Amino acid sequence: MSQSPEPATPSSIWGGRFASGPAAVMQEINASIGFDKRLYRQDIAGSKAHCAMLAASGIISEADANAITSGLDAILWEIENGSFPFRVAYEDIHMNVEVRLKEMIGEPAGRLHTARSRNDQVATDFRLWVRDALDSADIGLAGLQAALLAQAEAHAGTVMPGFTHLQTAQPVTFGHHMLAYVEMFGRDRSRLKDARARMNECPLGAAALAGTSFPIDRFQTAAALGFDGPTRNSLDSVSDRDFALEAMSGLSIVGIHLSRIAEELVIWTSAPFGFVRLPDSFSTGSSIMPQKRNPDAAELCRAKAGRLIADLNALLIVMKGLPLAYSKDMQDDKEPTFDAFDTLGLCLAAMTGMISELTVNAERCKAAAGQAFSTATDIADWLVRVLGMPFRDAHHVTGAVVKAAEAQGCDLAALPLEAMQAIEPRITADVYTVLTVEASAASRVSYGGTAPEQVRRQCAEARQRFAL
Ligand code: ARG
Repeated sequence: MSQSPEPATPSSIWGGRFASGPAAVMQEINASIGFDKRLYRQDIAGSKAHCAMLAASGIISEADANAITSGLDAILWEIENGSFPFRVAYEDIHMNVEVRLKEMIGEPAGRLHTARSRNDQVATDFRLWVRDALDSADIGLAGLQAALLAQAEAHAGTVMPGFTHLQTAQPVTFGHHMLAYVEMFGRDRSRLKDARARMNECPLGAAALAGTSFPIDRFQTAAALGFDGPTRNSLDSVSDRDFALEAMSGLSIVGIHLSRIAEELVIWTSAPFGFVRLPDSFSTGSSIMPQKRNPDAAELCRAKAGRLIADLNALLIVMKGLPLAYSKDMQDDKEPTFDAFDTLGLCLAAMTGMISELTVNAERCKAAAGQAFSTATDIADWLVRVLGMPFRDAHHVTGAVVKAAEAQGCDLAALPLEAMQAIEPRITADVYTVLTVEASAASRVSYGGTAPEQVRRQCAEARQRFAL
């Protein structure tokens, strides 16, 4: 889109009291059109709602309102067809649209800004944009949940090691592990939904800061733009950017969740693990090592959590200590917010692609699940259940059994019964039934546990709960 500079004459919009135009550097630091052109759809929708309300309230004539509305539609068409002249001299999207409207329809264009200011205009546009972006993020998150759920269903019975401290802890199922992320992204969705509900109030009509002397109907414009109602304090209306902060904190938490699963993909696809293989379409090669398959997309998802947090931080710092009402500092709200939503959209798409197309090496997972005495807890549980031992004593006895297996260089299932009985004479051969990784996982049937039957139940519930 073209951005032709205009001569440095006073602004035709606000230059009434100015003798000269802005210095080039002033224009450069001041203009936001380079990025806030992304608000064009919201800006035009806001203007159309405002215009209809001005006419309905008798503040402008029907004829002027019709001219303004058709002009705005023509501008929308121009922007979407790439022929709209974006001009830095007119600073931002609001003035670019208004100046163009004047060029198109003449005098009535000047009536559109009655009972409004760029301060309530930008607050409205930006809210509308963030609201739409939250809706897109929700769709992206639901898509990722669906991909995770499909893997969970396919691998409800695939045993893998569960870790704490990244040390082998107990066998779990791959499906159970996928469902952990379905829960996380489900909470993320509900956080974004909360933020959306809280932000859905319309600042339009707050004007510059104090409201207006015109008999406007703020309920009408709020309803026309899909808000639950108008905001209640005009100073707050033009000063509030909580909605963007809240959305970006939600996005940062999504980013953290994405970085955790990304990290696991990096680990799982590494040769020593080999639990998972990413398809060629989500792997990259090395320019020097022909055998390499690098999980770059996962690494980048891991990295971009940092960027999401930085975007949130940038706006938190912009807002800190700002006196009421509007300050131009707040123009710097948009770039980090746009960046955060763009970044998240890309990461969600990449992660959804990786999760949908990864293949699980069930043999490798199962072999790893049996390493490092991962069924030791099952012995302790057997001692409690069958011999009636207190768990603390059972833990102690099992520790000695693990020590014996370690000394003999075998795993628990291969330790002879006599060796176990030397530690606790009441142990019988029945104990071996709990020592396979499958039996271990299958025994954990408590609600939300890792047993395949639980995982299948949780998959079915998740399908309903998240409407996937
Ligand atoms: N481009 C400005 C922004 O994004 C619009 C509001 C300008 N208001 C003003 N009083 N100069 O914040």
